[in-house]
Amino acid sequence: MLVSAKEMLIKAKAGHYAVGQFNINNLEWAKAVILTAQELNSPVILGVSEGAGKYMCGFKTIVGMVNGILEELNITVPVALHLDHGSFEAAKKCIEAGFSSIMFDGSHYSIEENIAKTTELVETTKKLGLSLEAEVGSIGGEEDGVIGGGEVADPAECKMIADLGVTMLAAGIGNIHGKYPANWAGLRFDALEAISKLTGDMPLVLHGGTGIPEVMIKRAITLGVSKINVNTECQLTFAAATRKYIEEGKDLQGKGFDPRKLLAPGYEAIKATVKEKMELFGSVGKA
Ligand code: 13P
Repeated sequence: MLVSAKEMLIKAKAGHYAVGQFNINNLEWAKAVILTAQELNSPVILGVSEGAGKYMCGFKTIVGMVNGILEELNITVPVALHLDHGSFEAAKKCIEAGFSSIMFDGSHYSIEENIAKTTELVETTKKLGLSLEAEVGSIGGEEDGVIGGGEVADPAECKMIADLGVTMLAAGIGNIHGKYPANWAGLRFDALEAISKLTGDMPLVLHGGTGIPEVMIKRAITLGVSKINVNTECQLTFAAATRKYIEEGKDLQGKGFDPRKLLAPGYEAIKATVKEKMELFGSVGKA
């Protein structure tokens, strides 16, 4: 059964580790992430962007697929199904479809409008026992058409949004989606420290987990980050493993064209990436 992300993140914040959010794209992705979490006895959050939602034939299809995996494979670790960077409308659709966690990204609105919309969703999600992520200071880069300028969040605005009663807060600290440019200045730990101080127990979320050096990830966790989102890195390792299989001509040997064989190396590559991240984030054995 899907669970809200609230309890796993409270535990992570108190235990000084982070839970990974891994974005999914299809059955192979969902299965790879869930089975790795089960094998490592780790809590996990499955992220679904609006674009991935459309690709997988809508939010209801995803809820059906993920619930089916949890039941048929006897999954016992906590798994949350989370809307990633949702609009207000998508948040409502996911709540109806049966998601257990929602991110409403109001970072492109004025702070007043972000507060008004987040407040409405705090009420709805609390009634239903779902977790809610809000965002202040947009994340840089581009993800499924959501483009952010890489702002650094204002700690006072973070406190205002945290005080609305959200479960977790994404605050821009110079992080971006996708690969980091060679001249990237790194995470703004001064901003993270100030946000952490003001928001107290609030679990903080670090987006753009792909390509952030390990030392920075560890420092961010020390400073209050309890959820780290990873998307592009699984796509890169999946693509590289699939490319290798085809370049070695394996799809032309025997029944190598069978999709269950063709997609197997990519599937294993996602599992290896998720394992590496869970070990780095410290969530192994914390289910
Ligand atoms: P990356 O694609 O950079 O790993 O970012 C993922 C993310 O933040 C999803 O919201």
